[in-house]
Amino acid sequence: MSQKNLIVAFGGVSPEHEVSVLTAIQAISALEESTYNCIPLYVTKSGRWLTGKKLLDLSNYKELSSLEKESISCAFVKDETGKTFLKEQESKGLFSKPKNYPVYAVLCAFHGSEGENGAFQGVCEMMDVPYSGSGVLGSSLGMDKVKAKLVAAANGIPVTKAVNFYESDWEQEQEEILNVAEDFDYPLIVKPVSLGSSIGVAIANDREELINSVETAFRYDAHLLIEEAVNPLMEINCSVIGTPSDCRPSICEKPLGQTETLSFEDKYQSGEGAEKGMASADREIPADISKELTKKIQNLATKTFSALDASGLARLDFLVNANTKEVYFNEINTIPGSFSFYLWDKSDLPFDKLLEELIEIGLKKHREKNGRVRSYETNLLSEKAIKGIKGLKGSKN
Ligand SMILES: Nc1ncnc2c1ncn2[C@@H]1O[C@H](COP(=O)(O)OP(=O)(O)O)[C@@H](O)[C@H]1O
Ligand SMILES: [Mg+2]
Repeated sequence: MSQKNLIVAFGGVSPEHEVSVLTAIQAISALEESTYNCIPLYVTKSGRWLTGKKLLDLSNYKELSSLEKESISCAFVKDETGKTFLKEQESKGLFSKPKNYPVYAVLCAFHGSEGENGAFQGVCEMMDVPYSGSGVLGSSLGMDKVKAKLVAAANGIPVTKAVNFYESDWEQEQEEILNVAEDFDYPLIVKPVSLGSSIGVAIANDREELINSVETAFRYDAHLLIEEAVNPLMEINCSVIGTPSDCRPSICEKPLGQTETLSFEDKYQSGEGAEKGMASADREIPADISKELTKKIQNLATKTFSALDASGLARLDFLVNANTKEVYFNEINTIPGSFSFYLWDKSDLPFDKLLEELIEIGLKKHREKNGRVRSYETNLLSEKAIKGIKGLKGSKN
């Protein structure tokens, strides 16, 4: 039997580059005993595609520039039969020849930016390889907080009141935007539309703080949101696995932040050490909330997963008013940190089985796509047909 080459794609031009490295290395070690042959596809901070054995060892990432020098640049290519390979484009070492790996499937382990927003998923679609997680639409919806809220609200899922605007709107209609936002009452939350990891997210208690937070957030994104704050806040997250038509929720977790809003530092720089990635952040698992609230959040999680056309695995984050227990959908992470394995292993789905199911969903989607008619034998540009087209050189029309 030929080896099942699983291309583990990670890194990327993203503020969450390092977290993605952790997620990928965790997944590769979980799959050590599996039938997959894991091949790293590391996208550097400047966007180069690299492969090679050195990329499998976390300790080599301490020195990124030497790791880059010792790794091998690579690309997806198709041969004349249409089969896709991860092709090494250079050889390292005197006697080694560049290798070509036939692609069995791709495990997308990026966080943020082009690796998670549908762009890389689009590359996989173009190269016709099976890949894990959400497709192009689900991934891009997940990256845009305004569009995700719109689609969720249209499907009857509760979201917080918000106003969104671009930098040019802010220049021309600042007073109107401030008035709409102030109707929600302080405190207000300012956030960039397409970023993650709490970058640029701030609480404003008055107009001066609001204007300052908006101006700071514009350093990160040209499109912003001002939202009513859920207060007092309890955050509850729930992971979902499956497809829009057939999915199931994990147990719930309650992330425990040290400051009012969970910051980048809370998420990744506290806890028991960097190797654990998102699994090390302070959290309560399962969340110590009532059965009814758990059920309600799990139902909203699967409903939102389907509404946003997500696929594979995602983590859905909810804001709960700690007094009234009202629940609002906040955001979907289509490639959650550490693949949210810590929410599944307590439901009898160990990390390796979780990854295998995630990859199987990608393979099934790919088979279904290729089972449908996608092109036609008839050449509409054949000699005869082209004669009738106006405005072409030589068509005499
Ligand atoms: N409407 C809100 N009310 C209260 N706190 C909020 C609200 N929106 C976000 N937060 C806080 O800010 C944090 C980051 O916001 P979030 O929308 O999750 O952005 P990110 O994609 O950066 O994680 C949340 O985890 C939560 O602590
Ligand atoms: Mg968040």
